[in-house]
Amino acid sequence: MDEFGQLCFEISNCKNCDLSYSRRRSVCGYGDQGASIMVIGEAPGTKEDTVGLPFVGRSGALLDRVLLQCGISRNDLYITNSVRCKPPIGKTPRSEHIRACSSYLARELNLVKPVVVVPMGNTAIAALSLVLKFRTGKVTEMNGKILKRGKLLIVPQFHPAAILRNPKREELFMENFEKIAFIGREIKSNGIDKVLTSSNLELVNL
Ligand code: URA
Repeated sequence: MDEFGQLCFEISNCKNCDLSYSRRRSVCGYGDQGASIMVIGEAPGTKEDTVGLPFVGRSGALLDRVLLQCGISRNDLYITNSVRCKPPIGKTPRSEHIRACSSYLARELNLVKPVVVVPMGNTAIAALSLVLKFRTGKVTEMNGKILKRGKLLIVPQFHPAAILRNPKREELFMENFEKIAFIGREIKSNGIDKVLTSSNLELVNL
């Protein structure tokens, strides 16, 4: 079994927190394991809990539509979650759930080695800050910024569910993914070091 297979096996059998007792299926990350862009959501919803894949419900449909409009295919990304088991309906994961799953996110970051990480929503920002050890903030403050931590770029976004609740936010959500698509193209044609020193991008050191 390769390292991804091993990770997914452990996630599928995980009993690290109480959510494991009510889940149907835990949800592993999915997509291009060598992707330069990693997108991080919150936790599986009802559909993901049934299917066992991330972002296959309404939030996933919105994400796919926006990605497509920005010229990004889901196959170009690695998509994962902060918490791998569905919380009760209407509840956000608690900090102990984020902590219980944090080693899975750390291992995915080490395996995929993305250049751009897109934490969507407060839970994903908190999970990433726990793994990368930076001071966390709220999505309302961080949304739209391109944060630089070493050779990693972090582009915090609202969660697609927040866009579904408030469609006025979609324009900014799309603009952020357009920036991310631009960065992805620049990485392909000029390499990461050029991107990190590009004057076209306003990078904020984290
Ligand atoms: N919302 C998330 O944060 N993740 C999913 O996989 C689905 C919905």
